[in-house]
Amino acid sequence: MQTQTPKAGPSEQIEPSHAGGSASGDQALEIRRPVADDGLEVYRLIADCPPLDPNSLYCNLLQCRDFADTSALAMLEGTVVGFVSGYAPPARPDTLFVWQVAVRPAARGLGLAKRVLRSILTRPRPAPLRYVQATVTASNAASWAMFRSLADSLSAPFTSELMFERERHFGGAHESEHLVTIGPIPKEKEAT
Ligand SMILES: CC(C)(COP(=O)(O)OP(=O)(O)OC[C@H]1O[C@@H](n2cnc3c(N)ncnc32)[C@H](O)[C@@H]1OP(=O)(O)O)[C@@H](O)C(=O)NCCC(=O)NCCS
Repeated sequence: MQTQTPKAGPSEQIEPSHAGGSASGDQALEIRRPVADDGLEVYRLIADCPPLDPNSLYCNLLQCRDFADTSALAMLEGTVVGFVSGYAPPARPDTLFVWQVAVRPAARGLGLAKRVLRSILTRPRPAPLRYVQATVTASNAASWAMFRSLADSLSAPFTSELMFERERHFGGAHESEHLVTIGPIPKEKEAT
């Protein structure tokens, strides 16, 4: 049976809310699951957010369609301003592995990345997400600060270790990637 694709995924925070910080003013912020129709805007957002590696448009379409439960889109006044792509690795269903986090330059420093990540963590799931993982390059100060701040706000331990190495895994073409692990997230923080 053919079903109609919804224009937008269900919102976690339906009521107009605020990104926090003075620059966001009183503009309405919506954070929701992405749908396939968002894929092209996500692709453009990632292209505007170096040092992120651009994915193929097809990859972003699949993230929005098939990984929507572990991804989230932030819209401000009808414009995509933030996106988190993630998945729960099949062998570690209690872990949100964050593939990419992107916040449009004009919307940075307002707590948006943390807020979008937390919106994924608090979604109802068959089993709660107790860990967040991501890889970060040594030079990405904003990313380190953001994940450390997320760990603090979740009262969860923060560790890091080398995961993908410049020469061995990237053939010299990319900085080494360090695996960041946040967790276990205390139970009382799971749904707050
Ligand atoms: C990294 C990124 C997603 C952060 O988004 P953001 O919405 O500005 O982050 P937040 O406002 O939620 O910041 C969370 C914390 O990180 C800190 N932070 C954010 N950017 C920072 C920077 N450039 N330098 C130092 N600290 C920074 C904030 O001060 C905040 O700390 P606090 O909670 O202790 O006050 C954004 O800068 C970005 O899109 N960068 C380009 C793409 C990228 O590198 N993505 C991450 C790799 S997956």
